[in-house]
Amino acid sequence: MRRAKRRIVKQSRARDNALAMAKNKDVTIVVLAAGKGTRLKSSLAKVLHAAGGRPLVEHVVRACVGVGPKKIVVVVGHQAEKVQAVVEPFGAETVLQQPQNGTGHAIQVSKRAIGNARYFVVLPGDAPLVRAETLRALIQKHKNAQSAATILTAVLADPSGYGRILRKGGDAVAAIIEESQLTAEQRELNEINSSIYCFTTAKLWPALAQVKPNNAHREIYLTDVIGVLNAKGETVLAEIAADFREILGCNTRADLAEVDHSFRELKREALMNGGVTIQLPETVLIDPDVSVGEDTILEPCVQLLGKTKIGLRCVVKTGCVVLDSVLGDDVVLEPHCVITASRIDGKVIAGPFARMRPESHVKSGARVGNFVELKKSTIGEGSKVPHLSYIGDTKIGTKANIGAGTITCNYDGFHKHPTIIGDKVFVGSDTTLVAPVKLGAGAYVAAGSTITENIPADALGIARGRQAIKKGWASKKRRELAAAEKPKKHSKKHR
Ligand code: UD1
Ligand code: CA
Repeated sequence: MRRAKRRIVKQSRARDNALAMAKNKDVTIVVLAAGKGTRLKSSLAKVLHAAGGRPLVEHVVRACVGVGPKKIVVVVGHQAEKVQAVVEPFGAETVLQQPQNGTGHAIQVSKRAIGNARYFVVLPGDAPLVRAETLRALIQKHKNAQSAATILTAVLADPSGYGRILRKGGDAVAAIIEESQLTAEQRELNEINSSIYCFTTAKLWPALAQVKPNNAHREIYLTDVIGVLNAKGETVLAEIAADFREILGCNTRADLAEVDHSFRELKREALMNGGVTIQLPETVLIDPDVSVGEDTILEPCVQLLGKTKIGLRCVVKTGCVVLDSVLGDDVVLEPHCVITASRIDGKVIAGPFARMRPESHVKSGARVGNFVELKKSTIGEGSKVPHLSYIGDTKIGTKANIGAGTITCNYDGFHKHPTIIGDKVFVGSDTTLVAPVKLGAGAYVAAGSTITENIPADALGIARGRQAIKKGWASKKRRELAAAEKPKKHSKKHR
């Protein structure tokens, strides 16, 4: 029994893999990304808005790459160059649609780019959660049924804002009705058009030629082609998406927030499945390219951004924000550290409230404590900068101890200068190191010094005013003060 089950699982896995490997060299994909996105009320074109840590259109094009198509065509219009810059690195070509006269018009403009591909898939640039697997399954269904069009749909509790699917029995579709054109009874329809379709190219062109701009916006709607195909007696099918989140489009800021929420949730789920503990997961924000090793613990309200990589068994405590940084194994970030483009090796403890600016490197076993700022600096193995310091353009060797409040004065108002601190140096508290300056291995610096010259290895540097002692000074002072106070107290009584 169990063995049979295993065999079925194996077979279906093999089928999934075969589907995943299958290339779709007879399919061109067209991504519609020319619109402005009026409903976002933004100076940035809609498809450039980010959700889940990437521009919307980048998510869409990445999914397309996973389909293995003949080519990917992106229809651009608003902020065309910026959209182009996002999609071209993925091998997509672009077609300019100017002006934007609707989704059907966008397809007309792409006719030459679609060329002689037997099939083409259309995706909106504003529905970023779609997965390559879902597109592959849609294409497979379309090819198997030899239909003229196959529409990816979803059933939503609240279908408002979407075009509705009018079925005519079974899998077959009669038409798509845009929201503005729904009759009172059609309002009850809750199966919606995702704007993701697969078409048989030869059947699409004559049908699209019949579509007229019969709507308030005077636009050519691609949705109207479905009714035309149906009237011609062609087969149009619908496939309901297994996960409705995959078809969510972003027309408003609220839609963006909802889609972002889904992306973040999926990322956290993937990390948790990989052995990461996330406390109060809904408060933790993680970008798509971040990796986190097994048995690492992320406390509430942590943000891991950009290309951050975190090792095994780390603890990232509450309020930390880590961007484009690499942490080794067994690192502890105490609460509220802000780490940017830096490297932290194994067994380092940093924070609370440590700030590492770009190009900082904290080597293994080092300690960077509270209210310490690093910039373009290396802290050697086992060295400690425990409290209230600014360390900039500095190289610190191994096992050095930098006292509280030490400041490297790296900037003279014109240029930045380096500070070099050797192995096992001891810097007393409240020292200023005026760069360029070198402290040789094993040197000592007396607390409160302003160091302007190099200190040789093993030497003591002391640079501060000498202390004077005035015996009995305090009681004398107190007597003087008391005498001066007396008349004032007297006058108060009489008020
Ligand atoms: C569209 C569909 C609707 C569907 C919904 C799913 C039409 C008429 N309606 O509505 O049935 O439920 O998507 O999200 O197609 N675009 C262009 N050129 C244009 C117009 C639009 O490239 O001339 C692009 C937009 O940038 C966008 C995509 O096409 O990425 C969809 O356009 P949008 O205005 O968002 O359509 P919806 O009103 O959401
Ligand atoms: Ca939309």
